[in-house]
Amino acid sequence: MRERMERILFTEETIQRRVKDIGKVISSDYQTAGAAKDIECRPLIAVCILQGAMMFMADLMRAIEIPVEYDFMSISSYGSSTSPGAVRLLQDLSHSITGRDVLIVEDIVDTGFTANYIKRGLLARNPASFRICTLLDKPFRREETIEMDYVGFFLEEDLFVVGYGMDYAGVYRNLSYIALLKPEYK
Ligand code: IMP
Repeated sequence: MRERMERILFTEETIQRRVKDIGKVISSDYQTAGAAKDIECRPLIAVCILQGAMMFMADLMRAIEIPVEYDFMSISSYGSSTSPGAVRLLQDLSHSITGRDVLIVEDIVDTGFTANYIKRGLLARNPASFRICTLLDKPFRREETIEMDYVGFFLEEDLFVVGYGMDYAGVYRNLSYIALLKPEYK
């Protein structure tokens, strides 16, 4: 698939190094820096937003050195010019998050509609704490304000990326790096 890529933005080595760093920061925040608020001291719940965050989640969980439970949520963004930011829940969490420490694991925050939809929905369930971790952030594309607690990389240009979980028309998620697709493959 390498020949279909215009440019590699983040190599496998760069991604793996950054993910390990974020894992260390998250571990220390929840272990000693006061991020954990669950009065029963139960493990952190990491919520993977399917499908894009699946690779990031798998590596990040191995980089986290504190007890953690997983859950999964599937969201579809079907925004158009007539209904921008329309977001739909395809699969909800399997467990209650009330009173628990929750960490959302996202692939990329673009307009911010998806992350805000998730945040509104999950805060209504009264978690003890709520944080968001995204691998990529495109701040200049933002249409709704959303604060992120952990960001892997910022994309300062208006680029559509594929790889490491992120797709174009459902494909290229299995690349171990993040790249730009050549125009003839779009
Ligand atoms: P938002 O609601 O506009 O913030 O969009 C978030 C979702 O759009 C992400 O979780 C991705 O699934 C998708 N997305 C946004 N930008 C890209 C990209 O450059 N490549 C692949 N998917 C993207």
